[in-house]
Amino acid sequence: MSIDYSEKIPNNVNLSTDKTLQRALERWQPNYLKWWVKMGPEGAQNDDVYLRTAVSADASGWANFGYVKMPEYRWGIFLAAPEEGRKINFGEHKGEPAWQEVPGEHRANLRRIVVTQGDTEPASVEQQRYLGQTCPSLYDLRNLFQVNVEEGRHLWAMVYLLHRYFGRDGREEAEALLERHSGDANNPRILGAFNEETPDWLSFYMFTYFTDRDGKFQLCALAESGFDPLARTTRFMLTEEAHHMFVGESGVARVIQRTCEVMRNHQIDDLAQLRALGVIDLETIQRYLNFHYSVTLDLFGADQSSNAATFYSTGLKGRFEETKIQDDHVLKNDTYKILDVVDGMLVEKEVPALVSLNERLRHEFIADSLRGVGRWNKVIERIGIPFRLHLPHKVFHRRIGAFAGVRISPDGRIISAAEWEANVRNWLPTDEDRAFVASLMGRVVEPGKFANWIAPPAVGIKGQPIDFAYVRFN
Ligand SMILES: [Fe+2]
Ligand SMILES: [Fe+2]
Repeated sequence: MSIDYSEKIPNNVNLSTDKTLQRALERWQPNYLKWWVKMGPEGAQNDDVYLRTAVSADASGWANFGYVKMPEYRWGIFLAAPEEGRKINFGEHKGEPAWQEVPGEHRANLRRIVVTQGDTEPASVEQQRYLGQTCPSLYDLRNLFQVNVEEGRHLWAMVYLLHRYFGRDGREEAEALLERHSGDANNPRILGAFNEETPDWLSFYMFTYFTDRDGKFQLCALAESGFDPLARTTRFMLTEEAHHMFVGESGVARVIQRTCEVMRNHQIDDLAQLRALGVIDLETIQRYLNFHYSVTLDLFGADQSSNAATFYSTGLKGRFEETKIQDDHVLKNDTYKILDVVDGMLVEKEVPALVSLNERLRHEFIADSLRGVGRWNKVIERIGIPFRLHLPHKVFHRRIGAFAGVRISPDGRIISAAEWEANVRNWLPTDEDRAFVASLMGRVVEPGKFANWIAPPAVGIKGQPIDFAYVRFN
């Protein structure tokens, strides 16, 4: 499964044996580069960045580290190794050999799944394009760019599937992926969270912690797909995704650490005093968390969804760790408990398991999110500050599903408009919060130096020292 870098498009799919496909992708490539230069990291296209590049799709030792100018990054097509005799493991086709070509009757749904996933990848690059101008350190700048080039590669992964398996309309969808833009009033990205701004670095860390984690769970569900090329490409994408979530979790932890050190050293917990000392108070961090968490929960879709049922029953999208679950993997006779609003009250109700698969994946995400919050609280606890962060209730501030438009407090009570208005300032970032965080964002690019509002990381990247020149400006 080694990758051929001698070709214009690096790949491990023997692209050169399919000249028509190769030519089609080589025609898409300059359009991709145009998009990258126009919509990607602003003002950084000529810098040398210490980046990792995939050299093989094997689990061990797949990455090579070195200085690269981002437009020269070797984006390519990398699929995890095929699994001998792989079967479809769930749904109505359970037990049949996994598909190597698109089954005609599921073509439209599969294309929709690939396009929706593909759309999120360039969207996040667009959302993050100005962050380099306010980086808190060279180390963080490098991590931002690493995430960006890999999201670009994830777009390549989905575009390969579109070109290789979906003919003319696949090629048209691949073009459209470069034409929609995050936040564009006329031609926005498909999903809501990918049209929000990522205006500051606290938002960036929250985004990579929560929203990239949604990506992890979507990719895990697609890695179970009966359509084998989709399963193989998403399995390799997951190896890249882990670093994105690390950037988020460690980034938030470092912001918390710095704030708590200032609280301890100065023996203060007053918001105005903390802000005067240039650190982000823990309440503001909690409000950012509430916002990004709730917006990300919406990405899993409606609590009851007939599409989710269809995607599962037809073998296109599985559950998280499908093959480790002990049941019949068909779910026709199973039920699952979800929440609903009845007469102004939250009530638990049992619904068919098949229609509640979005909610089930959301629950896996919540359990995973909770672990990192526990580690953040350990940072606070170690410094001796009596404050704990928490995830709000899963139905707080939702815009999709049964709770859209219902006013619910972070502790999960349905409340009046008056109570919402009286408290929303404590629950979601205010304009003042955002303006304050924005005021801290200056550009720190001296090797080994960090902005005042964030602690340095414990270790550097790939064994390099923390004061390593992770980015060289030209
Ligand atoms: Fe991605
Ligand atoms: Fe990601």
